[in-house]
Amino acid sequence: MKLFTLARASEIHNISIENLTQLLEQKLVPHIQKRAISAKVNYYIPSAFIDYAKKILNTNDLKNQTLKIENFYNKNGTKIITFSNLKGGVGKTSIASNFAYTLALLNKRVLLVDMDSQANTSRYFANQYFTSNSIKNIFDSLMRKEKIDKELIHKYIKKIKFENASLDLLPSELALGRVVEFSRAVFTMPHKKLNDILKYIKDDYDFIIIDTPPSTGLSLHMAIYASDIMSIVTDAEDFSVNGLKELSSEIEEIEEETDRSITVDSIFINKVKNSKLHEIYIEAIAKLAIERNINNVFTISDGMRVKEAQSLHIPMLEYKSELDKGLVLSSSIIEYAIEKALEG
Ligand SMILES: Nc1ncnc2c1ncn2[C@@H]1O[C@H](COP(=O)(O)OP(=O)(O)OP(=O)(O)O)[C@@H](O)[C@H]1O
Ligand SMILES: [Mg+2]
Repeated sequence: MKLFTLARASEIHNISIENLTQLLEQKLVPHIQKRAISAKVNYYIPSAFIDYAKKILNTNDLKNQTLKIENFYNKNGTKIITFSNLKGGVGKTSIASNFAYTLALLNKRVLLVDMDSQANTSRYFANQYFTSNSIKNIFDSLMRKEKIDKELIHKYIKKIKFENASLDLLPSELALGRVVEFSRAVFTMPHKKLNDILKYIKDDYDFIIIDTPPSTGLSLHMAIYASDIMSIVTDAEDFSVNGLKELSSEIEEIEEETDRSITVDSIFINKVKNSKLHEIYIEAIAKLAIERNINNVFTISDGMRVKEAQSLHIPMLEYKSELDKGLVLSSSIIEYAIEKALEG
């Protein structure tokens, strides 16, 4: 995937810089803005975003486009997507968060839900701790049989504003794990409880993206029960292929237990290195994906930029002014986000 400056995009797509600027300002073409030291705003446009604009505008010719579109809300309602794997440290949080951000950049209304009591997603995007001020409090209210409504849930949702896009975050905290497990003793069907919570606010979003902990347990079951789609994040290491088989059996068990069928539509193989060994594992994972009718297998290279962006609390697509290098890492995330945005 290529990243164009405004001048280059105008040249390649045969459209004047003025017209292209208008399209960017009207948010018809998603883009990344960076303010230079001179305070001048520079625009950067990934090639895939130009294709996306053409698709949503139903045209091959951006040259004559001046129409204003009010929004890009999903026509088919809210889609809920969970990122998971029982294995830890594979990149669930990095990918879920950056995927949510990319959807927001595509002008979708996005809620990112942190169901992991490690609260890494919350810290990545909000850079703070949410003690007694998180989704855990909503579970507390549910267990106390207090009245739950849209307003109560929105009290715990944080607005996260980045340079080029904004999204909402329902954060987590350390005590979440304990509260979720305790809910087993209180509810007859505890796995439905996240779904019950999200029902109240679903209409406010085009996408709800859920990050999950690296273990089987009620948090994962709740997330899966609430979701339309599941995406698996893995690395290309020794136990990953077996781990994926275990996850598949776990999913089957959850399907039985919760009486809900789950669509796994993608696998992200993360932290890929240029090595023969990784090639072998990728092939094995791709084979497994075909056997299970999983249509998308994406790879993401191992690179310091993912780590750096996360530790600086910046989405990858906004990280560093030398954007062309940083962007390569998230091209699979962009592709998957565009696919989902167009389906919406
Ligand atoms: N493609 C990548 N290249 C290099 N580092 C990466 C990459 N993806 C993720 N990381 C780093 O690996 C670490 C683990 O990533 P992350 O927190 O996203 O994994 P996780 O699966 O959510 O972990 P956990 O199971 O603990 O929730 C982080 O430091 C992250 O910045
Ligand atoms: Mg995580």
